[in-house]
Amino acid sequence: MHRQPIVVGNWKMHKSPREAIDFVKQLEARVCEFASVEKAVAPTSLALSGVSAALQGASLLVAAQNAHWAGGGAFTGQIAASMLRGLAQFVILGHSEVRAHLAETDANVNRKAKAALAAGLQPIIAVGESLAQNEAGATVDFVRGQVSAALDGIAAADMARVVIAYEPIWAIGTGKSATGEQADRIIGAAVREPVRDLYNDRVADAMRIQYGGSVKPGNMAEFMVQPNIDGALVGGASLDVDDFAALVEIAARVKGS
Ligand code: PGA
Repeated sequence: MHRQPIVVGNWKMHKSPREAIDFVKQLEARVCEFASVEKAVAPTSLALSGVSAALQGASLLVAAQNAHWAGGGAFTGQIAASMLRGLAQFVILGHSEVRAHLAETDANVNRKAKAALAAGLQPIIAVGESLAQNEAGATVDFVRGQVSAALDGIAAADMARVVIAYEPIWAIGTGKSATGEQADRIIGAAVREPVRDLYNDRVADAMRIQYGGSVKPGNMAEFMVQPNIDGALVGGASLDVDDFAALVEIAARVKGS
């Protein structure tokens, strides 16, 4: 089954609204020719409206870095998924930094994913094990648990809009990535197979799964050649126009037929 490759830049707490707009204008000019690849940037919330206005009609799409499940209310510092309508097509949920620093739980990721889908957004649900879990051989069980918890109660019909990003925590921002084969094996066993069990072959075979964790132009092809990997969620390398453009070009060359 053909799945459209998807490369998303997670800018984390980088780039002011002004810098974000300048960056996406340069990046769009470099990546618009690679129509076979879906690509998006995730700026800070503050830059979402400027970036989304600058990208009207562009090939580059926009992702938010988080969203709240409630439609509104007394939630200081939060943004409702429904408020992102018209500003973003995607929302990253369950990133390990949010899990670690903001006490994000699997149950909240699930509530957020449902709210995002209800708002017409495509959730990019990030999962991944710690170094200790990895060394203890607990990766598949742990990630499988994160995947089933995140998808609890999500209808098969909505699954076409769900993307899962497998990001081993020990590989994020460390320069230490998993190998392509390792990542592919874990994604198969801990993400695609559980989705097959929870739903069916059609849903599992159509679902797009990214690898994330120190993806750079130098190792992108190693991930893109893997059968279970449909793209990348990229932090550090997405902050540089040349690197980001190279990642999209590699995804197009390897996967985008
Ligand atoms: P990195 O970040 O590419 O800098 O490792 C990935 C991520 O956190 O999504």
